[in-house]
Amino acid sequence: MSVNYSEVLDATIQHLEALKSRGARNVSVSAETLRSLSQPAPSPRHAPAIVAQVSKPAVSPISKSASTQPASLPPAAQSQIANPKSAIEKSAAFAALRERVMPCVKCPNLASSRKNVVFGVGNLDAQLMFVGEAPGADEDAQGEPFVGRAGELLTKIIQAMGLQRSDVYIANILKCRPDTPGQSAGNRKPTPEEMATCVPYLHEQIDLIQPRVLVALGATAIEGLLGKTLGIMKLRGNWKTYRGTPLMPTFHPAYLLRNQAMTEKRKVWEDMLSVMEKLEMPISDKQRNFFTRG
Ligand code: URA
Repeated sequence: MSVNYSEVLDATIQHLEALKSRGARNVSVSAETLRSLSQPAPSPRHAPAIVAQVSKPAVSPISKSASTQPASLPPAAQSQIANPKSAIEKSAAFAALRERVMPCVKCPNLASSRKNVVFGVGNLDAQLMFVGEAPGADEDAQGEPFVGRAGELLTKIIQAMGLQRSDVYIANILKCRPDTPGQSAGNRKPTPEEMATCVPYLHEQIDLIQPRVLVALGATAIEGLLGKTLGIMKLRGNWKTYRGTPLMPTFHPAYLLRNQAMTEKRKVWEDMLSVMEKLEMPISDKQRNFFTRG
């Protein structure tokens, strides 16, 4: 399938800017890739060839240049160095995946009721990836995951960890809002068929991002990633593994909005502290003691 040249270029620029903002000053790019990028934008007829060039595997360019990087690079930029896929290849692969996902009509009921396909948002080199259930009304309207009330709470949790949304990657098991025919409001849980149909896209996103840690937000996220297993009440707080990547199951922020008990918020925060430890992030006394009684 062809990938729009300007989309690849946009994704590449976005990715390089993100790397720059995190302290990276050099990236290695193969001569072949540089040549292809310096060409004038091709006519649509030629776009696939350009993409094929851009995504041709180069010889670990980023890891090769590791010795030219400042030793004090932030962890996210360091993971880029360790990742043999170059920034440009990754951006191109992500753009190609996005191009396949956005027009998806595999679930005709969802395709006809949605306003937007909610692909995912964040840093392609994220060490930490959050996975939720499915877009709600706000996410469907804006085309971005976790932007409604639950999203605001998730953003606060991310910030309390000392991160920004742009440091992590956020996606859902389902990329379309589950339809609720005959209802003017409300959400419904994705069906097993919808999950089975959509989750391969998420697997591809995870494979490209290669986060060091995954956080599954709620029962549906766990089911989508690990299959049917114990309930969220039993699972949360206990490390699991998704295809070799440590996965922390925790409560969905919407649950915390429904159940305002401090005990439940505290459990989620404890899970996030475990995540921070796993990622070897600094943890201040204030962070450690958020929920300890004085
Ligand atoms: N709930 C989710 O699981 N995902 C979203 O994107 C928003 C709310």
